[in-house]
Amino acid sequence: MAKDPIHLENRTETGARIYSPSAGRNQKPIADILLDVLPQNASVLEIAAGTGEHAVHMCQRRPDLIWQPSDPDERSRASQNAWRDDIGEQMRPSLFIDTTLPKWWQDLPRFNAIFCANMIHIAPWEAALGLAKGAGQIIEKGGKVCLYGPFKEGDKTAPSNLDFDKSLKNRNSDWGVRELDSVKHIFADQGFNLTARVVMPKENRILIFSHMS
Ligand SMILES: C[S@@+](CC[C@H](N)C(=O)[O-])C[C@H]1O[C@@H](n2cnc3c(N)ncnc32)[C@H](O)[C@@H]1O
Repeated sequence: MAKDPIHLENRTETGARIYSPSAGRNQKPIADILLDVLPQNASVLEIAAGTGEHAVHMCQRRPDLIWQPSDPDERSRASQNAWRDDIGEQMRPSLFIDTTLPKWWQDLPRFNAIFCANMIHIAPWEAALGLAKGAGQIIEKGGKVCLYGPFKEGDKTAPSNLDFDKSLKNRNSDWGVRELDSVKHIFADQGFNLTARVVMPKENRILIFSHMS
C-alpha cells in the first residue's frame, strides 16, 4: 500500500536540502510571534520540523537559542541536518521523534519550549494526544508549547478550513483540521493553559500554551 504523503505541496531539492514553499512564506510571520515569547537562551524542541527551514530561520534570528529539530521521516531529518551546515552547534542534529509512539519523550532532556507547525492535522489524532502528553513531561514549569496551523473554531470556522478538512479526510480518514477546543482540552489535561491565540495569514493560527504545574 502506498505510504501517505507527509506534506501537500510541490517541494524542490538541492542535494539533501529540501525547500518548502509554505515554510518559505510563513517562517518570518511565525518567528515574529514565537521569538517574542521565547526567553533568552531557551532550549526549543521542534516536533515535525520538516525541511528544517523554520529551525534555520529561528536560529539565524536568535543566536542565543538552542534548537533541537526532529521528525519521524528520514528524508526530512537529512534535510534538517543539511540546512544545519549554515548554523552549526546552536542547531542540534535532528532526532527521530514520532509522537504516536509510547513514551517518545523518555530519553530526552527537559526543554523550555516545544514548537510544532502543520503536523496535527496531517497525522492521526493520537499524534496530537502524544504531543500533549510528552509536552507535559519535558516542558519546564512556565515553559511554552507553540502550535501553528489551521484549526476549527466551532461555528466561526473559516470556510477554507472546512474545505481543507474535507480534502484531508478524503486522503486519509484519520487526518483532519482539529477543533481548537479539543486541542485546548488535551493540553489542559497535561497542565497547560492556552495563553495566546494569534490570527495568522490564510486562516492559520498560532496557539501558545503555558505550563502551569
Ligand atoms: C506538512 S509537514 C510540516 C513540516 C514543517 N513543520 C512545516 O510546517 O514546514 C508535516 C510533518 O509532520 C511530520 N509528522 C507526521 N506524523 C508525525 C508524528 N506522529 N510525530 C511527529 N511528526 C510527524 C511529517 O513527517 C512531516 O515532516
